[in-house]
Amino acid sequence: MTATTPSAPSTSTQVDYSELIPNNVGLSNDRRLQRALEAWRPRFLDWWGDMGPVGFQASDVYLRTAISTDREGWANFGYVKMPDYRWGIFLAEAKPDRRIGFGELAGQPVWQEVPGEHRNALRRLIVVQGDTEPASVEQQRHLGKTAPSLYDLRNLLQVNVEEGRHLWAMVYLLHAHFGRDGREEADTLLERQSGDHDRPRILGAFNEPTPDWLSFFLFTYFTDRDGKYQLGAMAESAFDPLARTCDFMLKEEAHHMFVGASAIGRIVARSCELMRTHDTDDIRPYGGVPLDMLQRYLNFHFSVSVDLFGSERSTNAASYYTQGLKGRWNEAARNDDHRLLDHTYAIAVQRDGVITRAEVTAVNAVNEMLRDDYTDDCAKGLRRWNAIIRDARFDVELRLPHRGFHRAIGAYSGLHFSPDGVLIAASEWDRQVSQWLPTDEDRTYVGSLMKGVFEPGRMAGWIAAPAAGIHAKAVDYEYVRWA
Ligand SMILES: [Fe+2]
Ligand SMILES: [Fe+2]
Repeated sequence: MTATTPSAPSTSTQVDYSELIPNNVGLSNDRRLQRALEAWRPRFLDWWGDMGPVGFQASDVYLRTAISTDREGWANFGYVKMPDYRWGIFLAEAKPDRRIGFGELAGQPVWQEVPGEHRNALRRLIVVQGDTEPASVEQQRHLGKTAPSLYDLRNLLQVNVEEGRHLWAMVYLLHAHFGRDGREEADTLLERQSGDHDRPRILGAFNEPTPDWLSFFLFTYFTDRDGKYQLGAMAESAFDPLARTCDFMLKEEAHHMFVGASAIGRIVARSCELMRTHDTDDIRPYGGVPLDMLQRYLNFHFSVSVDLFGSERSTNAASYYTQGLKGRWNEAARNDDHRLLDHTYAIAVQRDGVITRAEVTAVNAVNEMLRDDYTDDCAKGLRRWNAIIRDARFDVELRLPHRGFHRAIGAYSGLHFSPDGVLIAASEWDRQVSQWLPTDEDRTYVGSLMKGVFEPGRMAGWIAAPAAGIHAKAVDYEYVRWA
């Protein structure tokens, strides 16, 4: 920890844009930290140039930029060239006299500095979160040239610059509070690469390719939502700078999930329209995404995203909780003792190749609680998409697959479950998997739909137009000005 980090939380919500690194943390009061981050900045920009979005770097993109972190105008909209985007350091407003909300230290004041005994665990939490941010930019870097519309292209690039800012958010914490090893970790965040054989990103889902826009939209719906829940749990942290950082990141993250949720709804609407017009479910000859294919993609993205929450029973998660490092989603609103030692939670356990339920001490099940909250949240989008299908009078329902389907981590790993939750033999899995997960044929077909549409207001044939544009602009606004 640096001696010069202000021990009283900075309370400014306004972002200072007169500095090289926009911030609301009083960076200019800490010359050493400022110099270290200014030295990291060109490395970040090199990474953005090498691994960020391919193309459009010289285009004017209608982007939002944070100008203030308070509830009113935190966002400012205008044309920006991506390399000129003002990546910066924004913490949510400090809550006066904030107290630890859970664990054995509940009720004590939160920490402005990292306690020595929690240094390794907190650094690990920050590095794992930080690693996902550039990873998703890398995964999505080739999508621009096949954007289904200028509106969607702008949304992709908005998500990308904000994931870049989330990297800045985590790098700030590493530099400000973890000394030399923090600086080294900040450097390696730019060295690992999504899908790289030798230096992959830390978490599995962030090494999966995002080869097409259907995958992108499902990624923003399911995998960015994992991020929402992880950030929500860290926004409860006793380490106040982490809590405030995550609090503000959540505000940006909401847009990413809107991008996914609304786009999948638009795809569903377009598919129904094509099914109606041509009186068939197989709308491939007409350039639509068949709903059974969408279901297979959805099965894939949900299953790799639920893996991100870790094992059902976790002593690591329990000690993070007990020590106050990472809480649960919406901790304060939960009606229990916030210590979780005296009651139990039901989780799945594998015994002799079958799954049973077991009651474990609740504190050992916080991963599972977060996953349960996440799953309930995921189901909301499906209800909206199914309403679109119902309104179009088709008897099809999109479903979240069973929790055990296609799992690589935790109690279900090593077993095979159908999307309905039936335990099946490996041979049966092999026989049926092409109905449940995207096939090579599906991926080739979806790939064949990916052709860039860059005329303002026009949409690719597989997706309906959005109901409204961005920031009260028309749908046919020129969201990206080609350069
Ligand atoms: Fe993010
Ligand atoms: Fe995100």
